[in-house]
Amino acid sequence: MENVKSIEPDFSSSEVIQNIHENYDLLRQKRGSLYKSDNILNGAWLVMGHEDIGNFLNDTEHLSSQRQACLIMALPLELQGQFEKLVNLHSQWFAYYDAPEHTKIRQVMAAGFTREFIQKFENEIADAVEVVLKHFSEKKIVNITEELAKKVPLITITALFGVPLSDSRQLSKWIDSIAAYMGSEKPDVRVIGAAQDSMLEFQEYFKKLYDDRKKKRLGNDLLSRLIIANTEDEILSVDEIFAQCTLIAFKGGEMTKNLISNSIYLMLSEDGVKKELLNDPKLIAKHIDESIRFHSPIQYVGRMVKKDFDYNGSTLKEGDYVSIMLGAGNRDGSVHKNPHTFDIHRDAAPNYAFGTGMHECIGQVIVKMEANVTLRLLLEKYPNIELAEETKWRNNTGLRGLVSVKAKLNNR
Ligand code: HEM
Repeated sequence: MENVKSIEPDFSSSEVIQNIHENYDLLRQKRGSLYKSDNILNGAWLVMGHEDIGNFLNDTEHLSSQRQACLIMALPLELQGQFEKLVNLHSQWFAYYDAPEHTKIRQVMAAGFTREFIQKFENEIADAVEVVLKHFSEKKIVNITEELAKKVPLITITALFGVPLSDSRQLSKWIDSIAAYMGSEKPDVRVIGAAQDSMLEFQEYFKKLYDDRKKKRLGNDLLSRLIIANTEDEILSVDEIFAQCTLIAFKGGEMTKNLISNSIYLMLSEDGVKKELLNDPKLIAKHIDESIRFHSPIQYVGRMVKKDFDYNGSTLKEGDYVSIMLGAGNRDGSVHKNPHTFDIHRDAAPNYAFGTGMHECIGQVIVKMEANVTLRLLLEKYPNIELAEETKWRNNTGLRGLVSVKAKLNNR
């Protein structure tokens, strides 16, 4: 094999992030679908091909989701001790649990994500989005990312938890600082410290809300539903309930913002797409699915090897870290015809943007509903909307979102 070291890009560099798919393709071509990295997280394995991604996501015999300590692995050993609280809080997120504990917790969590419960909020979310859109009417140019995509999930999270919309500002600050650290290839001490503070404040916020719900009557909000579902068998400790609420608020805020911002950008930048969606709003659902494949909001998920195993000629050792590159797999030409073409009429191509297996995303229904409502109302109110300027990808390797999508409303 040729000089492979020079081929591996620096995934933390802005230049690489701007051209991430060229870099993935080059890597997959030169080093194959599974390879051991030279410099990522002390020699992590990278899984780049669609089929292998599915196999790794489903392999719970050899792979564990308990990877919270890896989040600070990029730091020198002597600094890692400062972040014990952060690692402890993360280790309570059920996304980092394995079976059988994970299975039991997921059953409790399911009470907060039934289709019937989620749909109850659709009208409330739509009304609040209409208010946001109404405010745009005085503006010529709108920063869609900040003024719309970021606000919609905050509307949803506050509605789900039954807290005032005015709490959005602090929730948003916490979500942003956790995101800056979660998706960063090489977070520095300051970024990790801010994330730790935010995790602690989040925990405290949900503790107060819990005390309040317990004092008064439990209602039909997300936290009350989790408390009720947990009552009989007490699967979750009280602290673990707060941790799951933080996980939901974080995922719900960050991923949804990126999906809405990325999908509006695609609607305005890809030839003819806006026109098609205006002519047939039912296509918005397909547009959203294709946006999730094309610019996947989560680019990779991690696993730890818990037992040595051989895979296609490679030996993975206990303790090795594995990065499953969902974003790369979602543009794998062996399953997606013309993978780099954005095509809303594509047959439902199998893709792992939401993962698969026991950890498959629990928030899919809600995030698709939020994006659908937002795009539909935006087009209804501002059919002449156009992209105002080109934009760039944020400097975040794992959580793919645009810096800012600016649009002209052309509201006559
Ligand atoms: C387009 C937006 C989203 C994408 C692309 C996405 C993607 C993912 C992926 C890939 C996983 C699997 C992680 C793994 O295998 O380790 C996951 C899990 C999860 N997601 Fe999402 N997500 C999105 C939105 C949301 C929303 C809105 C919520 C909550 C309101 C949410 C909550 C969760 C939770 C709690 C898990 C952990 C599930 C488990 O471990 O059983 N996600 N998501």
